[in-house]
Amino acid sequence: MVLNESRELDFTGRRVLVTGAGSGIGLAIAENFSAHGGDLIVADIEIDRLKIKAEGLGPNVSVYQYDQSDASSIEKLAASVGPVDIFCNNAGINHVGPFLEQSPEIIQKIITIDLIGPILLARYIGEAMVKRGTGVIVNTASQLAFHGAATRAAYAAAKAGIVQFTKSVAAEWAPYGVRVVALAPGRTFTPMTAPLLATDEQRSEGLKHIPVGRYGNPDEMAKLAMMLASDMASYVIGETLIADGGYVLL
Ligand SMILES: NC(=O)c1ccc[n+]([C@@H]2O[C@H](COP(=O)([O-])OP(=O)(O)OC[C@H]3O[C@@H](n4cnc5c(N)ncnc54)[C@H](O)[C@@H]3O)[C@@H](O)[C@H]2O)c1
Repeated sequence: MVLNESRELDFTGRRVLVTGAGSGIGLAIAENFSAHGGDLIVADIEIDRLKIKAEGLGPNVSVYQYDQSDASSIEKLAASVGPVDIFCNNAGINHVGPFLEQSPEIIQKIITIDLIGPILLARYIGEAMVKRGTGVIVNTASQLAFHGAATRAAYAAAKAGIVQFTKSVAAEWAPYGVRVVALAPGRTFTPMTAPLLATDEQRSEGLKHIPVGRYGNPDEMAKLAMMLASDMASYVIGETLIADGGYVLL
């Protein structure tokens, strides 16, 4: 059967949960699914901002507050959202600094929010998908999962964990009709990275490592998340798609 974009990317009637949907890549993912017919369920810790952003996500959007550092909040969210066809497991934090200047509390916070939280969310949302025999989970990893970076030790470790978690659980759940994949954005202009790319010097320094000569934008990442969630990727299981503009450690 030939590719029919309007059919492959039609998410009408599909219930799409996006975490971290109040900002950056998560917001762009939610907007793109909404533009392609999806019924959005959006969640974030910053509920006031999320409510404002959700106004642009169509009439069927449902909005939830949760805290990805809190296991009981995660369980409550999963129990509240109802059936989910596509789960974009996207919320996360970053913390930049020399490792010896990162306190144990900061390190634990990064690992909790960027690794344990997404795993618990996938555990609950995926369990319901396995029971229904259908569903797709798109985890948000990072290019740093593959090569690490000075000043990003705990974050890179957490994201590397997401890559291996994705492979492992994908193998377990594929026989039940549930696909698990991941997206690894490269440096993308969002509120998370804005402080790191604030000056001309910071921006031009970063670009030395990116052969395409520019940073990614959230919309580009969102379109890949949508493609991975669609039937265009129906035979893709456990993979992490890297979208980094050809980043190299020069
Ligand atoms: N921007 C980049 O360059 C880049 C690169 C690679 C990976 N990523 C990943 O992409 C994802 C989105 O990042 P972004 O750049 O859009 O960042 P962002 O800061 O713009 O958005 C992150 C969202 O997650 C939410 N969030 C943070 N802590 C939370 C918590 N405890 N509970 C619930 N929600 C919480 C925030 O409120 C925010 O809305 C993250 O997982 C990030 O690690 C980003």
